[in-house]
Amino acid sequence: MFSKKEIGKFNELETPFFYYNTAGLKNTLKKIKLESEKYGYIVHYAMKANANDKLLSIIKDFGFGADCVSGNEVKKAVDIGFNNKKIAFAGVGKSDKEINIGLGTNIFTFNCESLQEIEVINEMAEKKAMVADIAIRINPNVNAHTHHYITTGLEENKFGVNSWEFEKLFELLSKLKNVRLLGLHFHVGSQITDLKVFKDLCLRVNGIQKIFIDNDFPLEHINVGGGLGVDYEHPDNEDFPDFEAFFALFHNFLELKQGQDLHFELGRSVIARAGDLISRVLYIKKGIKTNFAVLDAGMTELIRPALYQAIHKIENISSNEGIEFYDVVGPICESSDTFAKNVQMKETKRGDLIAIRTAGAYGQVMASNYNLRDFAKAYYSDELLTTD
Ligand code: LLP
Repeated sequence: MFSKKEIGKFNELETPFFYYNTAGLKNTLKKIKLESEKYGYIVHYAMKANANDKLLSIIKDFGFGADCVSGNEVKKAVDIGFNNKKIAFAGVGKSDKEINIGLGTNIFTFNCESLQEIEVINEMAEKKAMVADIAIRINPNVNAHTHHYITTGLEENKFGVNSWEFEKLFELLSKLKNVRLLGLHFHVGSQITDLKVFKDLCLRVNGIQKIFIDNDFPLEHINVGGGLGVDYEHPDNEDFPDFEAFFALFHNFLELKQGQDLHFELGRSVIARAGDLISRVLYIKKGIKTNFAVLDAGMTELIRPALYQAIHKIENISSNEGIEFYDVVGPICESSDTFAKNVQMKETKRGDLIAIRTAGAYGQVMASNYNLRDFAKAYYSDELLTTD
């Protein structure tokens, strides 16, 4: 929902652009802090969801850590001022160059995804006369019941170490001198809306942790990743995601050992609702069943509908007319460049402003300049609304 003042400001700007509600983001961060601190849990922000400097800075100021998946994300986290001892570095394919960035930054952990990666980190740490702190990402074989492109915790997925490799893993860990095992890491998928999935994860973690302890590998921490979903269909629904229920579930079902820390890596649930993509209608064109509303934003700004058949609520924020049906499409030269088919919108004409909601996560970061398009700018509520 946008105020009249906001819509007035939008009308003066070149479209498309991302609009971030910084007050909304701060409210979400407050809530996450309140609910996680009830249990002493440690939250890292998964930078992959949105790595915009200003937003990162706000998130850092709340004291959260960072979850990075590339050397450049590690560098960015440090530049923004995240505490290096709160930086977790995950990723199934860390290059030598990226491992060196992590070692040079003295990060909290490398979340290792294969036995070979552990050996390489050990070798590179040895060359620097260091001991690298690591966690092992385990593939827990838990079904996240989400889109198959963002399911990561099944044995068929490329992520993590599988249970049939544990014996070899234990042998390796006892042998290597330049890595130190701190914890276990899990992440089963993204946009998970059924909390039962996280209960399944907890039960698996309890079992896996026992195997490590039985083999004399005590753990300082467990990291359960991210994945909490948001309500894309009701962008103004304040009660979702339910952080209270989310953290309480881990408290109820995950058996932490004495002194053990529990870490989370939340991306989407932190930032998705704080951002919208604002575009203009270029043309209205007659289709067979519905009309096409051709926008000046496309899959170059928000690829989620094309890639994951994702739903984003689309609203005409200029019109007060009656409801019509539209196929809302972008200007890119392929048919996958469609935001939604046969959706209800207020009667729409050339020049109307269209808001594609809940675009704060995996929007701007996944943008491309395909067709040599310009990258969309970003505006922020605290700056836009204070100018005349
Ligand atoms: N930790 C790890 C190891 C991850 O791989 C991810 C996301 C996260 C944390 C954060 O998950 P979140 O809380 O945001 O669900 N581009 C896709 C989502 C890809 C998610 C990749 N991993 C989308 O637009 O839906």
